[in-house]
Amino acid sequence: MARGRAGEKEEGEKHIGLLKLAQTLSFLLIFMAGIIIGLAASSHIDRYFNSLPTTTFSSSSSATLQTVSDYSNCTVIHRDCTGDDENHDDDAAKRKRRDRDCWSVDGFVRPENLSHGMSDDELFWRASMVPAKEGYPYERVPKVAFMFLTRGPLPMLPLWEKFFRGNEKYLSVYVHTPPGYDMNVSSDSPFYDRQIPSQKVEWGSPLLTDAEKRLLANALLDFSNERFVLLSESCVPVYNFSTVYSYLINSAYSFVDSYDEPTRYGRGRYSRKMLPDIKLHHWRKGSQWFEVNRKLAIYIISDSKYYSLFKQFCRPACYPDEHYIPTFLNMFHGSVNANRSVTWVDWSIGGPHPATYGADNITEGFLQSIRKNETDCLYNEEPTSLCFLFARKFAPSALAPLMNLSSTVMGF
Ligand SMILES: *[C@@H]1O[C@H](CO)[C@@H](O)[C@H](O)[C@H]1NC(C)=O
Ligand SMILES: *[C@@H]1O[C@H](CO)[C@@H](O)[C@H](O)[C@H]1NC(C)=O
Ligand SMILES: *[C@@H]1O[C@H](CO)[C@@H](O)[C@H](O)[C@H]1NC(C)=O
Ligand SMILES: *[C@@H]1O[C@H](CO)[C@@H](O)[C@H](O)[C@H]1NC(C)=O
Ligand SMILES: *[C@@H]1O[C@H](CO)[C@@H](O)[C@H](O)[C@H]1NC(C)=O
Ligand SMILES: *[C@@H]1O[C@H](CO)[C@@H](O)[C@H](O)[C@H]1NC(C)=O
Ligand SMILES: *[C@@H]1O[C@H](CO)[C@@H](O)[C@H](O)[C@H]1NC(C)=O
Ligand SMILES: *[C@@H]1O[C@H](CO)[C@@H](O)[C@H](O)[C@H]1NC(C)=O
Repeated sequence: MARGRAGEKEEGEKHIGLLKLAQTLSFLLIFMAGIIIGLAASSHIDRYFNSLPTTTFSSSSSATLQTVSDYSNCTVIHRDCTGDDENHDDDAAKRKRRDRDCWSVDGFVRPENLSHGMSDDELFWRASMVPAKEGYPYERVPKVAFMFLTRGPLPMLPLWEKFFRGNEKYLSVYVHTPPGYDMNVSSDSPFYDRQIPSQKVEWGSPLLTDAEKRLLANALLDFSNERFVLLSESCVPVYNFSTVYSYLINSAYSFVDSYDEPTRYGRGRYSRKMLPDIKLHHWRKGSQWFEVNRKLAIYIISDSKYYSLFKQFCRPACYPDEHYIPTFLNMFHGSVNANRSVTWVDWSIGGPHPATYGADNITEGFLQSIRKNETDCLYNEEPTSLCFLFARKFAPSALAPLMNLSSTVMGF
């Protein structure tokens, strides 16, 4: 069309009729296209505005006109984030809920409510998201996520509360309990409302590793969490919070126990059915009580390929919680792992379970032997005597003497 129009103008009278016809045709074509586009757009706009309640529309437009910088009134979501619109409590509470901006960055900085209805698949997908843009649109204070995997009560709770006190800005707590278990803690405790949606756990089965991943994923939803520690109800801290925090935040390495054990308790649990993806020389063992940084946490919850091999082929006497993360990290991220745990444990008594310490065993000398253990260890490639930040296993009876000694021996 364009070429025809330009050429024929120069050719003269005999083609003028053809030219007119061409011009008319192209005009008609453009006109018709315009009508079609116009109709389509207006139906979109109609549908869009019809779906918005008029109150939301008018209030957001007036806020835009007054002060653009005042985000508090820029309500863009007219439905309750928690989804329980049906609640018939008082109007003010309802309005407050309705007016909350569900898309605000606050939801990433500190998710307000840990309860959600996501399945593990949905949760892991959601938690695996990484911003592509450098920096943060808020002042980010990196936090340590303390993730407790418990079988119910947390007997050492008062000791942890004492340890956390005054440092709330630098930490988040997550607790995975048996489903239906309700932790009864006071509303000023860092443990208050920190139970994540939990599922049944069987020790030694893949359900245990599922629970570890569920803790990691829930903690990843808070973009300020930078380091992730897995703890049990029998774990205690052995240094004060500032020591633990700076040790973890400033470490170039994550602390996941990962070693090659050439016995039936190590390599003996490897299954050739994992070939060709997992080979015997990849296989590692290690304590489940890990500490990882954000990057590794995202790799762990994002993996399905290798995890599904463990779920299929690592069955008793193979225990995924002792092999999956140590092996997976060894295969892909070994260079950023210190290959040691920061949680002290005593295997010296022999047998399948480590020693449990009760009230009678807690002395200043004992605690100091954990704090300044001469075990060779490196911190950021330098030798150090500070190898352990936490210790297990402690019976409930150890709580009273530990509370007694915490300020003089452990500095909190
Ligand atoms: C925002 O709301 C507050 C009270 O909720 C009101 O005082 C203020 O004028 C409102 N600001 C704008 C820009 O509408
Ligand atoms: C969190 O959400 C759940 C369900 O949506 C609700 O029952 C609970 O009260 C909420 N907690 C807080 C602190 O808002
Ligand atoms: C929760 O703890 C408080 C104070 O310790 C106690 O009074 C209350 O009975 C407990 N509630 C339940 C359900 O255990
Ligand atoms: C924590 O303990 C260290 C010694 O281990 C001490 O130097 C530091 O002052 C303590 N921090 C606080 C806040 O008590
Ligand atoms: C941990 O082990 C890996 C092998 O998986 C090795 O590459 C890495 O250097 C070790 N880390 C340290 C700190 O030695
Ligand atoms: C703890 O103390 C009791 C009683 O003194 C003793 O029998 C036990 O061996 C001690 N446990 C450990 C692990 O040292
Ligand atoms: C270090 O801990 C081990 C137990 O894991 C213990 O046997 C040893 O005595 C401790 N070392 C020191 C110097 O306290
Ligand atoms: C606490 O320590 C004091 C002395 O330091 C001691 O007399 C007391 O028995 C200890 N209490 C417990 C529960 O260990």
